[in-house]
Amino acid sequence: MRFYIRPFEPGDADWVLAAEAALQAHEIAIFDKRLALTLLPPESSTAAYLDMLWPMLAENHGAMLIGCDEGGRRLGLVAGHVVDEPFPTETPDCTRYGYVSDIYIMPEARGSGLAGQLLDAIAAHLHAADPTLTRLRINVLAANAIARAAYEKAGFVPYEIMYERKLG
Ligand SMILES: CC(C)(COP(=O)(O)OP(=O)(O)OC[C@H]1O[C@@H](n2cnc3c(N)ncnc32)[C@H](O)[C@@H]1OP(=O)(O)O)[C@@H](O)C(=O)NCCC(=O)NCCS
Repeated sequence: MRFYIRPFEPGDADWVLAAEAALQAHEIAIFDKRLALTLLPPESSTAAYLDMLWPMLAENHGAMLIGCDEGGRRLGLVAGHVVDEPFPTETPDCTRYGYVSDIYIMPEARGSGLAGQLLDAIAAHLHAADPTLTRLRINVLAANAIARAAYEKAGFVPYEIMYERKLG
C-alpha cells in the first residue's frame, strides 16, 4: 500500500475525534490503568483531551500529520511536539526532546509500514522546527506489544521503564 502524509486540516476534525476515541478505547482494553476513563462518555473525554492537545502542539513547535492512501482516504495520524523540562542532573540534550504524543492507524491499514512513515515524518517536522533536538521519544503501555514492536522496527529503543504496584 502506498501512502502520502500531509498536515492536519480543519476538515479532518471529525475523523481525528473518532480516531483519538478509538485510540483511547484501544488503551482501555489493554490495561485497566485507563479504566477511570470508561466512566466518562468516550466522546467527551476525547474532546477534552483534544482541547488540551491543540494548544500544546501550537505552543511547542508541534504538529498533527495525517496519513492517507492514494485516493485521499485517511488511514492514520501522528502528533508530536517539543518537550523542554530542564533537570539538574541531566544534560539539556536529554531534557529537551521531540515527543510523540499520539499515533493511531486504522485497523485495515496496520502492518503496512504507515506508523513507521508517520514517525519519520513527525521526526522530520520536529527536527526542522528545532535543529538542536537530538532525541525523539514516545510512551507506550508495557502490555502494548504490537506498538512496542512497531516502534522498535522504526528505530526506537527502550529508555526509561516505569513500574507500578497497587496500593491499599
Ligand atoms: C501500533 C500501531 C500504531 C502500529 O502501526 P502499523 O502501521 O501497523 O505499524 P508498521 O506497519 O509501521 O510497523 C509494522 C511492525 O509493527 C509490528 N506489528 C504490526 N502489526 C502487528 C501484529 N498484528 N502483530 C505483531 N506485530 C505487529 C511488527 O513489528 C511489524 O513489523 P513487521 O511487519 O516487520 O513484522 C497500530 O497497530 C495502531 O494504531 N494500534 C492501535 C493504537 C495503538 O496501539 N497506538 C499506539 C499507542 S502508544
